[in-house]
Amino acid sequence: FEFLQVMAMHECKHLIMEACNLINSEWPRSKTARLQSLFMSCDKFPTSLVLILNDFQIVGHVKLSEITVGGPDIILESVIIHKEHRGKGWGKMLMEDAEDYVRRRGKKMIYLSTRGQEGFYEKLGYEVCKPLLYYGVALEPTPDHEPKVNGHENLSE
Ligand code: ACO
Repeated sequence: FEFLQVMAMHECKHLIMEACNLINSEWPRSKTARLQSLFMSCDKFPTSLVLILNDFQIVGHVKLSEITVGGPDIILESVIIHKEHRGKGWGKMLMEDAEDYVRRRGKKMIYLSTRGQEGFYEKLGYEVCKPLLYYGVALEPTPDHEPKVNGHENLSE
């Protein structure tokens, strides 16, 4: 049988190397850099959520970060479902859990960028928007911060 669970990376640190390997199987990068990013996961943001199969296998991942410190907008990145388990609705499930996580923390909007998976996000209700600028870390809010990513969903709908 298949038992699936979504957890925050910092609540299952013993699986961090598994998560690192899953993400690197799609987007190869140094293990150190990848682990550093995963180790940043915390109760607020950034948070890496992982999908766990039968208590021990990491089969999905998504990273959520604030665009500006304490601001209402979230950037959602590095969404992946293990190759052997795609097309089973698990990506959708993980995305919906991520949206709940963000909504429960009072955030208003999720932004993401994709080249190739537009159809997946459209099905989930995301719409194309103006690009917005994201530096890879949350910056202090500034009045003139410019938009860079190209999909968003209004969580208040
Ligand atoms: N185009 C159109 N529809 C799609 C696509 C697509 N590329 N991918 C999935 N769908 C549809 C499915 O048919 C399904 O439709 P249904 O509800 O009518 O049955 C629905 O979207 C949900 O699909 P899932 O089975 O939940 O998707 P899956 O578990 O395969 O995960 C994912 C999708 C995460 C994109 C997976 O294919 C993957 O890991 N790909 C490689 C990594 C990747 O490209 N990640 C996205 C990077 S962009 C970012 O991170 C912001």
